Amino acid sequence: MAADDGGISRVKAQLTDVEATAVQVARWRAQASKLLPRPDGSPRYDGSFDQLIVDTCLSPEEQAAPDGKAAVMVGVVGIRTAEVDEHLMQAVARGSAAAAAAADGGGGGSAGEGLRQLVLVGAGLDARAWRLPLAPSAGSGSPFRVYELDSGSTEALKARILGPPGPGVERVFVQSDLGRPDEAMAALASAGHDPARPSAWVAEGLIGYLSAEAGNALLRLLRSASPPGSLLLVTTPPSPAWRDSLAAGGTRLFHSTFEEDTDTLARVRDNGWTDAVLLTAADLSSKYGMTTHQSIVLARC
Ligand SMILES: C[S@@+](CC[C@H](N)C(=O)[O-])C[C@H]1O[C@@H](n2cnc3c(N)ncnc32)[C@H](O)[C@@H]1O
Repeated sequence: MAADDGGISRVKAQLTDVEATAVQVARWRAQASKLLPRPDGSPRYDGSFDQLIVDTCLSPEEQAAPDGKAAVMVGVVGIRTAEVDEHLMQAVARGSAAAAAAADGGGGGSAGEGLRQLVLVGAGLDARAWRLPLAPSAGSGSPFRVYELDSGSTEALKARILGPPGPGVERVFVQSDLGRPDEAMAALASAGHDPARPSAWVAEGLIGYLSAEAGNALLRLLRSASPPGSLLLVTTPPSPAWRDSLAAGGTRLFHSTFEEDTDTLARVRDNGWTDAVLLTAADLSSKYGMTTHQSIVLARC
């Protein structure tokens, strides 16, 4: 990090403990991008945006400092990044195919446009708006919109470091307290999100920072803004056993909710997402050949 860093140090100093977790996640995501190749050796995802964030936010000394959680968290963050990307891009492709079929048949309507809204709930320093090939093919209508909900300070870092995303993608930051889901959803609607059109919702590394009550209300509200063609991906909070083993090693977590992954799945289902499945940590570890301790709930409408 340079001495004259354009205000990055000042913004960094304003991050709350919870917001600061986003910088660590970007660091692990950048590291994991080099350690988690596809079977043909190519990277699962482009970690260069995360690396730029890390290089801007952390001095060489901070980057070189021992990171007791890295051995565990690089696998957790790398695997969830790759898995969420895979399901997202499959859903976008399904939406585009449905749109093309509807156009061929002379159909229209909201679902006929396909999946053109991604909402990152607790976006932090997630770089999907820059990294993923979301732009519609040339001349095929409105841009793909990525809405990012978060409490605020991480946005100041992100906008300074990454600038606007590429052509065909519009990023809309929505400052919100996700512990007050009614207000957050109202802010999302005011920012232009259309609840009558399909959305992909990603709550990655978020739900454990909310009380169970707020998390449940959020899940219910997301479902009510999800017409057919929508998709939800939620990473599960740390289990009590994982929390205790991290605590024994001196690592403090800032989460409010600790639960088993099956409890998270039950909550997603109970709040209206009846077509939900658990991508378990064991299955994900075996798929990627690296250990994760976090499962993902995948739900479709
Ligand atoms: C562990 S980070 C994960 C960030 C991002 N989803 C990722 O995986 O890179 C958690 C994020 O959730 C946000 N967050 C936690 N509680 C929140 C709340 N009540 N309102 C808004 N954002 C919140 C934090 O600011 C932080 O950016």
